[in-house]
Amino acid sequence: MYNIIVNGQPFGTEADAETPLLWVLRDEAHLKGTKFGCGIGMCGACTVHVDGRAMRACITPIAAVAGCAITTIEGLSPDGTHPLQRAWLATQAPQCGYCQSGQIMQAATLLKDYPQPTDANIDAVMSGNLCRCMAYVRIRKAIKLAAG
Ligand code: FES
Repeated sequence: MYNIIVNGQPFGTEADAETPLLWVLRDEAHLKGTKFGCGIGMCGACTVHVDGRAMRACITPIAAVAGCAITTIEGLSPDGTHPLQRAWLATQAPQCGYCQSGQIMQAATLLKDYPQPTDANIDAVMSGNLCRCMAYVRIRKAIKLAAG
């Protein structure tokens, strides 16, 4: 049994130690906002926060995060009013949208470290989050809008 905190609520799972956090979130906690893209830590679609830091849920065994606080896109701002979410809407950043929850979760940690990020900061922190629709210009615009 592994106990974690998911979006502020205690959550227990009987999953095997090596089960990726992604599948506990999607299949057991029914939080479908965290996406499966590559499954090997290369695309960022599955990005969540573990104790406040961005991590790839697809390559994070549940045993490694026992006792940790997990935040998914559903918990970033329960009423959907996080500045990044507002900026994403205002700039119409997504195209297909599949990667966007991972993009927003990664961007949230970017803004924690760099409240007024430069293009170089954005490139450095966001480069591991891939978007096959190539929405990178709008994503950058949204991040800057959220930063204010
Ligand atoms: Fe986890 Fe691609 S699905 S990084």
